Amino acid sequence: MSKLQEIYDEARQYFIGGASAGGRFNSTLQQPLYLKSASGSRIIDADGKAYIDYHTGSGAAFFGHNHPRLREAAEKAMDMGFFMNFETEYHKELAKLFHEFFPCAERVRFSNSGTEVTMAAVRVARAYTGKDIVIRFEGHFHGMNELVWYNHNGARGKKNDIGEVENISDTAGTPQCFSEVIRNVEYNDLESFERCVEAHKGQIAGVLLEPVSFNCGCYPAQKAFLEKVREICSREGIVLIFDEVITGLRMRPGSAQAYYGVTPDLATFAKAIGGGFPIAALCGKKEVMEVLNPLGRTIMSGTYTGALMPVLTSIECMKMAMEPDFYDHIDALADTLYGGMNALMKKHGIPGHVRGIGARFGIYFGVENPEDDYNWRKAGDSYRCDMTKSFLIKSLRDGLYMHDCGQAAPAHYGFSVQHTMEDIEITLNKFDKIFKEMKEEF
Ligand SMILES: Cc1ncc(COP(=O)(O)O)c(C=O)c1O
Repeated sequence: MSKLQEIYDEARQYFIGGASAGGRFNSTLQQPLYLKSASGSRIIDADGKAYIDYHTGSGAAFFGHNHPRLREAAEKAMDMGFFMNFETEYHKELAKLFHEFFPCAERVRFSNSGTEVTMAAVRVARAYTGKDIVIRFEGHFHGMNELVWYNHNGARGKKNDIGEVENISDTAGTPQCFSEVIRNVEYNDLESFERCVEAHKGQIAGVLLEPVSFNCGCYPAQKAFLEKVREICSREGIVLIFDEVITGLRMRPGSAQAYYGVTPDLATFAKAIGGGFPIAALCGKKEVMEVLNPLGRTIMSGTYTGALMPVLTSIECMKMAMEPDFYDHIDALADTLYGGMNALMKKHGIPGHVRGIGARFGIYFGVENPEDDYNWRKAGDSYRCDMTKSFLIKSLRDGLYMHDCGQAAPAHYGFSVQHTMEDIEITLNKFDKIFKEMKEEF
């Protein structure tokens, strides 16, 4: 019996599904992947099999595994006493770096995870405006936060006559009444958005969105749509919140807000900013952030918030991202990988395409027209789950790790700064063989 199987059999006696987190169940493997170690672009499973990692900790391992500079930062925290629930000069240094990087970051507050920080963003928007309704977008995901956890994972609700999409909760256990203050609209559908704002005029606290929704593969905003949303929010006194938990730091220093040239009132960051250590941040305009305690009476705090070790690793991440060739390397890998995959799909007559921005991407098997990516419903009509499944099984077999929870929409995959051009070439050679096999199968 393999070690992986042995661990799984025993883990199921203590964990539901054999893992400490539901999302770790890999639907391709039909069990979690238990690791022995990870370094650079590689992970090694409990049986000793090596994979090039394209899961990269769901985006948290943007700096790769076991990065020497992050090790050094973690060791510095060990030497200092790895304490928590205190401030240091390093906290201030990190906030200053966020302020320099992210256009909206006039003020900063730390948190531990993407989920916590999107919860806080909604709280701040409601406190600042004194209103309750939050508009969100179909397909977008903002963490395990039942305040806004609707219509992710390919769910397509019915539309009402003004174009709002019926709320479909993504988890059991959500009180029905939460739904009363949430409105869903299709992303990039300006008309429906405008009608929704008009219908709830004077009652809307915030608009929450992923500028590029990697939780539907890679579902980007149209720039004109985002600009118009900004304009309407300013006009109506609505707090515009960008969830940059995935986009943060990944495409360029200023993240999606710089990429689109649209500055939100609040933005949330997690994953890449900590280099694999748990830290998140709520950044925003001074006037809005001033509702927070101790100035205001909106509470956002926590025992582990801004623990020393993730603060020190995050400083190192920000410094690395400032170095001259950092994003040139990301862009070169991205162009080679996404361009190469698209060319291989064409070569083998596999319907679909890859879309990536910066270091993260989605694979749209079955979706022939890349323009459909701007309209998830259209893309969803032709998306082929069966091809995705076959592709993932073969990729795992060939030592390429892509995680999939068995969702109805494309998942997101990505590489790290420690991936090399050689890794990408090895990967493309394997994909060449995999697409050839798939062509015979479909
Ligand atoms: C856009 C977005 N927001 C929030 C979250 C939640 O982050 P965390 O898993 O750190 O709670 C995620 C997680 O995948 C995410 O993709």
